[in-house]
Amino acid sequence: MAPPFLWGAATAGHQVEGNNIASDLWLLEQVPGTTFLAPSGDACDSLHRWREDIAIVRALGLNAYRFSVEWSRVEPTKGQFSPAWLDHYAGIVARLRAQDIAPVVTLSHFTSPRWFAAAGGWQQAEAPALFARFVARVARRMGRAVSHAITFNEPNLPLMNQWTATPIADAGRRSLDAMLAAAAAACGSDRFDVWVYSHGTALAHLLAGHRAARLAWKAEAPNTQLGMSLAVPDAQGDATGITAYRAVAEAPFLAAAREDDFIGVQTYGRLLFADDRTLAPPANAELTQAGDEFYPAALGHALSHVHATSGLPVLVTENGIAAANDEQRARYIPAALSGLDRARADGVPVIGYIHWSLLDNFEWRRGYSQQFGLVAVDRQTFRRTVKPSARVYAEQIRRRA
Ligand code: BGC
Repeated sequence: MAPPFLWGAATAGHQVEGNNIASDLWLLEQVPGTTFLAPSGDACDSLHRWREDIAIVRALGLNAYRFSVEWSRVEPTKGQFSPAWLDHYAGIVARLRAQDIAPVVTLSHFTSPRWFAAAGGWQQAEAPALFARFVARVARRMGRAVSHAITFNEPNLPLMNQWTATPIADAGRRSLDAMLAAAAAACGSDRFDVWVYSHGTALAHLLAGHRAARLAWKAEAPNTQLGMSLAVPDAQGDATGITAYRAVAEAPFLAAAREDDFIGVQTYGRLLFADDRTLAPPANAELTQAGDEFYPAALGHALSHVHATSGLPVLVTENGIAAANDEQRARYIPAALSGLDRARADGVPVIGYIHWSLLDNFEWRRGYSQQFGLVAVDRQTFRRTVKPSARVYAEQIRRRA
């Protein structure tokens, strides 16, 4: 019997847990000259409220939950692993299984331990082996109960950002470099490398890290489906621009994924290409809270493109919008899902759809200014309130059952 289609919602450790204090980003949020709008702080306090989060997933009728294991908790000091934190994450996996919810586990969602960044992050030759060692520990402790594992979340993001209409321009680059230098100084190091804010130079090590992590995981838990998640906007406009973009921001990753079980597809909209850059959204376009074009059709296009290029099954590991007005999200979901339906009808093997995000959470350098959640979170009490768009999503799933 074919496995059931996965309907899920996603979070990431640093964005929801709170107090991820041994991580590289926590330090970046605190240093003088930080470019973060706000520190992550308690985030959604999911560190303590994860059972409540799972209960919401269950109440919405979802059968998958994506979350990440924070490397900096499991290995807060180089070589010192924490059985207690491994137990914590294994507990989440076990509870999901007990409720018939497939655990989809991300192993690197933008954050790394502070010690790793202070030693040069993914620039280090040793990085792939260090990451694989952590991954092996996670797999040994809980791997056999994990349905899908994702090595990296959007390792192609810095490369994609080189094309976007609002590239990290010179001034932005200088402030990022100053923030990284301040973090290095705080650690008494001459470096502090965080790949998501770097210049894309860690690519070879990231790809080697993916392969090493796959081997490490599969040695412990061969039945988990494993892949990496890529940022895959729909690409339209000048064909030369699109080809150049894909050669840099997609091809190396798809090549490294050849032996994976699936590709994670994360789509938020479309990029409109001129020959060597992307253009701002059309003047009359409806925008999201993040200032991006509201373009739900991007998802179906991205799925067809990734499958046609890679030959692999695809799993939507993120799709959604930032919307202060939940009515916009409620319109977005059915529209995006009808594109997904079309891709499936065209024969694209889609494993599942995991919405970003379950909760309104810490949106990285934009602090708490963007609402991607199906569920609102009170910033003082952490009380969760299910939004109407979540009910729309649940209804869409029921209709397809
Ligand atoms: C990331 C998420 C982020 C979302 C919205 C994705 O690139 O994986 O962590 O919150 O986009 O910006």
